[in-house]
Amino acid sequence: MSGEAEKRVAAEAAAELVEDGMVVGLGTGSTVAFLLPALAARGLSLRCVATSPRTADAAREVGLRVEAFESIDRFDVAIDGADQIAPDGWLVKGGGAAHTREKVVAAAADRFVVVADSSKPVDAIRAPVPLELLRYGLAATLRELGTAEVRAGTPDSPDGNAIADYTGEIGDPAALAARLSAVPGVVEHGLFPPSLVSDVLIGRGDTVEHRS
Ligand code: A5P
Repeated sequence: MSGEAEKRVAAEAAAELVEDGMVVGLGTGSTVAFLLPALAARGLSLRCVATSPRTADAAREVGLRVEAFESIDRFDVAIDGADQIAPDGWLVKGGGAAHTREKVVAAAADRFVVVADSSKPVDAIRAPVPLELLRYGLAATLRELGTAEVRAGTPDSPDGNAIADYTGEIGDPAALAARLSAVPGVVEHGLFPPSLVSDVLIGRGDTVEHRS
């Protein structure tokens, strides 16, 4: 079965976790693209917040109610993809450049569900780790980071920040996450700790492996 089909079965399984009346955070990416129609097909009354303009557009297109993330202060569930899933539960996200908004939404969710195809689990996290950097002082921030580069051909985030990638050694993800967060000018990085993650649904062939 292809990766696309695996993304679909994982996303469809996640859609089944959503209940009527829930406030739902919608991630970004090609796996979430399968979630949106599956969620809409359930015909539930939902309030949704999107982590990117492209998810907002796609969600509205299938009839989901998308609201601004201003007065909503928590989610019953948020569902999103991942670029890498480590055995200890650390994630790398941001291949689609939406990791800052995705992390804000994940942190506000009672239950953060990750959906992925079977190519995403890895033995150990490897570079690149996506970054979102303030445009103000960008060269100095890159110098401080040492091994990081602005991602070529990627527009700024919807919040006006540059998208970059950390390309150095990973080592202990917790230590790296702390080091990246400590650099002024780093708005957010794409390392998501296991403590943020409630469930991981991985499509394997036509079945779904559920890690929680
Ligand atoms: C968006 O910035 C990313 O964090 C995506 O959620 C992640 O890259 C997974 O994307 P795919 O579902 O397209 O693999």
